[in-house]
Amino acid sequence: MEIARTVDELRLHSDAWRALKRMIAIVPTMGALHEGHLSLIREAHRQADEVIVSIFVNPTQFAPGEDLDAYPRDPEGDLEKLRAAGVDLVWMPSVQEMYPDGFATTIHVEGPAKAGLEDTFRPGHFDGVATVVAKLFLQSGANVAVFGEKDYQQLLVVRRMAWDLDIPVKVTGAPIIRESDGLAMSSRNAYLSEEERRKAPALWRALNAAAEAILSGTAPDQATREARADLETAGFEVDYLEARNAQTLAPIDDPSSEPVRILGAARLGRTRLIDNIPLRKED
Ligand code: PAJ
Repeated sequence: MEIARTVDELRLHSDAWRALKRMIAIVPTMGALHEGHLSLIREAHRQADEVIVSIFVNPTQFAPGEDLDAYPRDPEGDLEKLRAAGVDLVWMPSVQEMYPDGFATTIHVEGPAKAGLEDTFRPGHFDGVATVVAKLFLQSGANVAVFGEKDYQQLLVVRRMAWDLDIPVKVTGAPIIRESDGLAMSSRNAYLSEEERRKAPALWRALNAAAEAILSGTAPDQATREARADLETAGFEVDYLEARNAQTLAPIDDPSSEPVRILGAARLGRTRLIDNIPLRKED
């Protein structure tokens, strides 16, 4: 497994692979890797010949007061997992390599990035994500990129950005990997106390309760309002819990005639959890 720490080192490998017509996949991450990340790597191996995993805790997607400094980091543990997963190249740039002095360009995203979900509670976040992901696509020359549905709005934002900027990369989504009690795996779960960890799956259960209510005829607004109230009673501070069109993130007109995603974000102590489920398997 190769490790590149500069854009030049990365290009040495990707240029050689492209000359050999090898398909290249990239899996962008911020490290502290878990089974969710590893599932994306398996999908990348199914779609391409060479798999690049990037590990970069991107400062531009964190607002002041968010958890940039506290974000869990485990480079040695990560490298071990990536080696076992058969990854070909790990791209680990420094902040200085990614954003050299004088860096002056940001990609500003709208459309799915302004759906009134994550963007309401993390202003500027998706501009930071889009900028770093565009750089990762262009640095790596990847043909395919794999993102988790865990960050569902992010997946739609990145897909739209690549399309709008004519970056020739196919953006693929992969399903959410969960703990046995339903909690979506996340690097941030490491922040949870024992008691919070026991409560945390209530977010996923609330999404499922809303889905069941909608499927049995309750209006989406009412179903999500009730699920939200239950979460608040359980001690969560809920940022949002909503049913949206799975393709556009627009509000739902008629749940029986469009694909529906139910998305939620809630804080438990100092930990912010996000999760989502499709209304039906095929959504
Ligand atoms: P990070 O939170 O490390 O997530 C990296 C990728 O792993 C994302 O595509 C995310 O959706 C996916 N992922 C996380 N938990 C998952 C789970 N339980 N099941 C399936 N996939 C999961 O998302 C980011 O980093 C950053 O914003 C990044 C795209 C790297 C840009 O900085």
